[in-house]
Amino acid sequence: MPNDVLTVHGGAPLRGEIKVRGAKNLVSKAMVATLLGDTPSRLYDVPRVRDVEVVRGLLELHGVRVSDDGNGAFVFDPANVGTATADEINVHAGSSRIPILFCGPLLHRLGHAFIPELGGCHIGDRPIDFHLAALRQFGAVVDKTAGGLHLTAPSGLHGTKFELPYPSVGATEQVLLTGVRAEGVTELRNAAVEPEIVDLICVLQKMGAVIKVHTDRVIEIEGVPSLRGYSHRPITDRLEAASWACAALATGGDITVRGARQVDMMTFLNVFTTVGGAFEVHDSPVDGGIRFFHPGGELRALAIETDVHPGFMTDWQQPLVVALTQARGLSIVHETVYERRLGYTDALNTMGATIQVYRDCLGGTPCRFGRRNFQHSAVIAGPSKLHAADLVIPDLRGGFSHLIAALAAEGTSHVFGVSLINRGYEDFDAKLADLGARAERG
Ligand code: EPZ
Repeated sequence: MPNDVLTVHGGAPLRGEIKVRGAKNLVSKAMVATLLGDTPSRLYDVPRVRDVEVVRGLLELHGVRVSDDGNGAFVFDPANVGTATADEINVHAGSSRIPILFCGPLLHRLGHAFIPELGGCHIGDRPIDFHLAALRQFGAVVDKTAGGLHLTAPSGLHGTKFELPYPSVGATEQVLLTGVRAEGVTELRNAAVEPEIVDLICVLQKMGAVIKVHTDRVIEIEGVPSLRGYSHRPITDRLEAASWACAALATGGDITVRGARQVDMMTFLNVFTTVGGAFEVHDSPVDGGIRFFHPGGELRALAIETDVHPGFMTDWQQPLVVALTQARGLSIVHETVYERRLGYTDALNTMGATIQVYRDCLGGTPCRFGRRNFQHSAVIAGPSKLHAADLVIPDLRGGFSHLIAALAAEGTSHVFGVSLINRGYEDFDAKLADLGARAERG
């Protein structure tokens, strides 16, 4: 597809202002939650990204009437929720992982659910064992077939006590979306507490759910017999904001990200400062945001580990590594959330970076992937002069980091498969143009 290639003339700083909207990883879950209400829900600031389209398609297949004003305000009317065929669902589910979260809401609404084979980025095995174990404890019966999962709940769904082996974001959402209407109390231990999860809890609370977040990753849900629709303005996309921040750093530029929120990015901002970047927070309820810029001088190497919240997010890792190729000294990155999230560094090496990946845990804490043959630690030697190359987008965040590298490199690069970036970055072509990037399709 010729239009799926971006030709990038790099080597110039990105400067200007862009805006981020609702967080993809909250918006898509809040959309699933609309199935649980008896009345319509209203969601604002919905970004035009592929994952949102996939969830919209799946909701419509199940009878939810979806309308939008073309400017990010959506209304979801669940009055006529019904069954969709496995074939239709398979066609629509595409490359997303969100369909697994339809289990609880569909079981509550219809008494059965079909979940297709899941897609998503190839950054590790990405099993769904925690999801299925939790659903079974709620009382679901899961039948695995070649085409997907068939679920029923012959005796209804009942509150339960469940401890996650690891604070998985998706499995925590699964328990929330199922527990809110299960009969009785559910206690989830070792839950994920990412800002997107807290915002999903706010959505569910607006719907009438009773959810308590205790200390030490314990969430308690009192099931209720029915829920109403909600009206919600989501938190903004801190993953996208950090990506543009790293683009500013790697290209020696200056980008103001309207909509970026300090409170969700505190850990990122600490790292950004340590490496030599600078930022200014603009507090304003209307057009607040954060200005991220390279203040001049040399960037500094550092050692970080990715972790669950409040640690340094795994999705911030890839764009940061591009900036670290420009830092003086040896940086160490220990990826502890996904076992195969460093594959994108090969392409950076072909552009002149010096990045060596290791199977060992090169961080303070041994992680789940140590001694298991996964190349999940990286040492980055810098600064390196990056030069142009032809690149193929491997996954969403790795792909964006390739784009940043092409923008930082001298010369003309061709980035193939850029449509994948639209899974999580709204209007990135237009934003690149607003930042003065010289890039064109084809
Ligand atoms: C969410 O994925 C995000 N995706 C990811 O962002 C993000 O990287 C991740 O959370 C961590 O913050 C969405 O919200 C759509 P997990 P999720 O369950 O929920 C293991 C992006 O680019 N695990 O927290 O799928 C798993 O293999 C995406 O926007 C099990 O072993 O992540 C991983 O090692 C990429 N069994 C770890 O837990 C399970 O049943 C964390 O995964 C579930 C997870």
